[in-house]
Amino acid sequence: ETIDASGLHVLPGAIDVHVHVREPGFSHKETWTSATQAAAVGGVTTVFDMPNTNPPTASVAALAQKHAIAARQAIVDYGLYGLIGEHNLDQLGDMAAAGAASFKLYMGSENPLVPCPPDGAIVEAFEILARLSIRCTVHAENTPLLTWRGERLRAAGRTDAAAHLEQHIDLAAVEAVSRTAVFAAWTGAKVHIAHESTRHSLPHIRFAKARGVDLTVETCPHYLLLSTEDGARLGDTFMRVKPPVREPGHAGPLWEALLDGTIDILSTDHAPHLRSEKTREVIWDCAPGFPGVETSMPLMLTEVSRGRLTLGRYVGMACEAPARAFGLWPRKGTLAIGADADIVLVDMARSGRITADGLHSIGNATPFEGFAVQGMPVRTLVRGRTVALDGRPVGSPGWGRPVSVSRS
Ligand code: DOR
Ligand code: ZN
Ligand code: ZN
Repeated sequence: ETIDASGLHVLPGAIDVHVHVREPGFSHKETWTSATQAAAVGGVTTVFDMPNTNPPTASVAALAQKHAIAARQAIVDYGLYGLIGEHNLDQLGDMAAAGAASFKLYMGSENPLVPCPPDGAIVEAFEILARLSIRCTVHAENTPLLTWRGERLRAAGRTDAAAHLEQHIDLAAVEAVSRTAVFAAWTGAKVHIAHESTRHSLPHIRFAKARGVDLTVETCPHYLLLSTEDGARLGDTFMRVKPPVREPGHAGPLWEALLDGTIDILSTDHAPHLRSEKTREVIWDCAPGFPGVETSMPLMLTEVSRGRLTLGRYVGMACEAPARAFGLWPRKGTLAIGADADIVLVDMARSGRITADGLHSIGNATPFEGFAVQGMPVRTLVRGRTVALDGRPVGSPGWGRPVSVSRS
């Protein structure tokens, strides 16, 4: 295949380490086909899938089941997260041996499928993963605090967006981020903070990194480009995501942290739900999250066009840093010759508009509806084969393969 890339930028494919593919269990929201088609069109060549499916990915058997589903459908490469629970600590080693690319710890969840382990179990999980040299991704919010406040607010009949924000008070995130860093320092575990949403965590992250804790941190486009003020335009229940998009005044410091390296990675927390699940009257009944894999690259390239970041820094946060943190970078002393040709061609002159109808996710309700973008991926290659061209997925389901991670 000869490809004419004149006038285009040739970038490494993006690696999105925070994607909820939804199968098994929630195929009405997203399938492995639809999620990886959306990823391919969005310039993403590898997705790391979260374990809050049904069944949750908490055992060797559940991991094998998900591997089989993904292998039949995926058109981009993938890593599967294993779930850390209070009762599966003795299985983590076997799950790693069976191909879990990383592990996810929920310190903040009201989902009974993924209950939050107590601190003792968290420390023990970190000890196990430190021995296995596997990075642990953490949803860092203080669950008992969230639950207690949520019940009080519900009992008081509060159904507004402010109540959601109060339940998910950013202190609950700050506390859990710093607790995670303390447990990581204690155990020597490598940890990754998911979806950093608040400026108040940043000093704690900087302190932990300066102390030598092996901490990586991600944020997502919605924390960089939206604030609570967008709730008026979108509908507050529609905007619901955990952790929430914060008040104005947080995005600026998050941008600074992304540019100075305090935040290492750009992910999306791709979490598709049906529009009907996101437009309920009462905020507590409304599903949190929205799709992200297809919109992230155009949105961030638009910021490149505006001069807010360089293309080089974008590649650093979307491709290089996730590869280094999650074991996809060539081993020390080896050359990248023979590495996968996971490539995206980008046209900075191409403009467009984000619309839900134009997205490939089943749950396509996006808070970026109507956003004008400048700079788009126009061709995506996975292992040398074109999987998306000019906004359309191409190629056969099953081309995607599980990643093989190096642990050193
Ligand atoms: O907004 C969110 N949606 N936050 C989570 O932690 C889970 C996710 C989902 O699975 O829908
Ligand atoms: Zn999360
Ligand atoms: Zn998530």
